[in-house]
Amino acid sequence: MIVAIDGPAASGKGTLARRLARHFGFAYLDTGSLYRAVGFAVLQAGGDPADEATAEVAARSLDPALLDDGRLRTDDVAQAASKVAAIPAVRAALLDFQRRFAAAPPDGAKGAVLDGRDIGTVVCPDADRKMFVTASIDVRAKRRFKELREKGLDVIESAVRQDMVNRDARDAGRSVAPLAPAEDALVFDTSDLDAEQVFALAVRYVTDGRLG
Ligand code: DC
Repeated sequence: MIVAIDGPAASGKGTLARRLARHFGFAYLDTGSLYRAVGFAVLQAGGDPADEATAEVAARSLDPALLDDGRLRTDDVAQAASKVAAIPAVRAALLDFQRRFAAAPPDGAKGAVLDGRDIGTVVCPDADRKMFVTASIDVRAKRRFKELREKGLDVIESAVRQDMVNRDARDAGRSVAPLAPAEDALVFDTSDLDAEQVFALAVRYVTDGRLG
């Protein structure tokens, strides 16, 4: 069973994906962390994340041990991730890893949950279940602001919102694998739903293949 979950930043897709994976005993891959790890590696080396050759080399030599590193979760790394993600050679270099994970989930798990921007459209177009999780920009910016503040980061709400607007525009506007719901995805708008409500709906959908 392959479960694909896409959506913009701070839509709640990561929380949902993690909980679903735990609930069903499936493996979980946060594909955003792959792009973040590439962006981070480029920044660490003092490079420009928009430079195609540099970013491609970083993607080809990606260290999977980096994927859980807390240093990937900053806004600077998110912006760098969004820049490297617009480069076709970077996406191509990361595609195999994601498809292998979905086809043969680690630890013998009977299923995999992948979240990202293009899982239902490009990485796993034949996924058994597809969800697109979204929310208004106001709600998402507030969530991300709160999250960063809780981590002790000294951030300004208007700047967090502007970063998110820029990242949305880049992720949805790029020519290769833009952020978009797959035609057959179930769309959840989490602006007015709490995490419990979304989770309950998603469990029903994954179990039955439909909501009604
Ligand atoms: O989900 P996230 O915020 O950690 O993702 C960081 C960036 O990575 C995001 O702005 C765009 C890119 N990304 C992508 O292009 N495709 C994916 N499947 C996942 C993330």
